[in-house]
Amino acid sequence: MQTVAVTGAWSFLGRYVARELLDRGAQVVSLSSRTPPDPDPFQGSVQARPLRWDSAELTASLAGVDRLYNTYWVRHDQPPIGHRGPWTSHSEAVQNSCMLLDAAKAAGVQRIVHVSITQPSADSRLTYFRGKAQVEAHLRGTGLSHAILRPSCFFGGGDILINNVAWAVRRMPFFPLPGPLDYRIRPMHVADMAQAICNWGEREDNATRDACGPDQYRFADLVRYIGHTVAGKKPRILTLPTSVCLRLYQAAGLLLRDTILSRAELEGLSQDLLGSDEEPLGTTALSEWMARRADTLGREFHPEPPR
Ligand SMILES: NC(=O)c1ccc[n+]([C@@H]2O[C@H](COP(=O)([O-])OP(=O)(O)OC[C@H]3O[C@@H](n4cnc5c(N)ncnc54)[C@H](OP(=O)(O)O)[C@@H]3O)[C@@H](O)[C@H]2O)c1
Repeated sequence: MQTVAVTGAWSFLGRYVARELLDRGAQVVSLSSRTPPDPDPFQGSVQARPLRWDSAELTASLAGVDRLYNTYWVRHDQPPIGHRGPWTSHSEAVQNSCMLLDAAKAAGVQRIVHVSITQPSADSRLTYFRGKAQVEAHLRGTGLSHAILRPSCFFGGGDILINNVAWAVRRMPFFPLPGPLDYRIRPMHVADMAQAICNWGEREDNATRDACGPDQYRFADLVRYIGHTVAGKKPRILTLPTSVCLRLYQAAGLLLRDTILSRAELEGLSQDLLGSDEEPLGTTALSEWMARRADTLGREFHPEPPR
């Protein structure tokens, strides 16, 4: 039986990857800074090992592991609204990721599946997309067998983005977005992503490819579509300068005590960095998934989980 490690089996994507790996008969280790929740969703079948940023400790956490499924990253470069205590910036997340990949090599891990983002770029002004490119380059430099999967965004399983757009369009008469409204997004169901990750873990070739669902939307059309599906109305898209949109998101964020969409995220979205022209890896259509949840989607706001 293969021993495999996934980062964050108690977090969002990692939970789905761990479940899929168990279903495929692997012995699964979770690398996490959290202790397993109570009740444990895996009823003790996933072994918890620490994810602490020290080379020797990471190498020890990866002892005996054949494959590593790496989802580790932080969403925001700066602490989000409402966060207290220390925060990991994107440049620190790059250092941590590189340390993890080096530790995997030192521990004798045979293959790594690494989760990145659509259109990472070493030249990007945006720390998320630049950091992801730096980690990808580091992984290639290790010489380890690898697959790099680049998603745009996930839906399903208590996701944040699609649910919170639904939450907003249920309540607001308009939705502010910067123009021109031509930027795209390519959502993938989180369970399809977990399957894709596990499929690529079983291969031996090095590869880098987008990991997206079957449908691509202009973001403004997606907002209208969500409004039509969950509330029977098409919300009016207000095309406003980026700075005005941000002030409105910030005001809503202060009320909700969460960062709804940061400046960097809005810039990435409006620069079309979440679009993809590659063949889909996922099969679940957002439209069908959403139609089945039209009554419940967006009833409650989903905050970023506390760290
Ligand atoms: N969610 C999306 O729509 C989306 C879209 C595009 C790309 N991605 C990529 O997909 C991967 C998984 O995303 P996800 O949404 O499943 O991420 P997640 O649940 O937030 O976390 C994934 C991993 O990163 C760690 N982590 C996250 N935030 C952290 C923080 N502030 N400080 C320390 N550790 C932190 C978690 O550690 P613990 O388990 O210890 O908490 C977990 O191991 C990431 O590489 C992300 O960049 C996600």
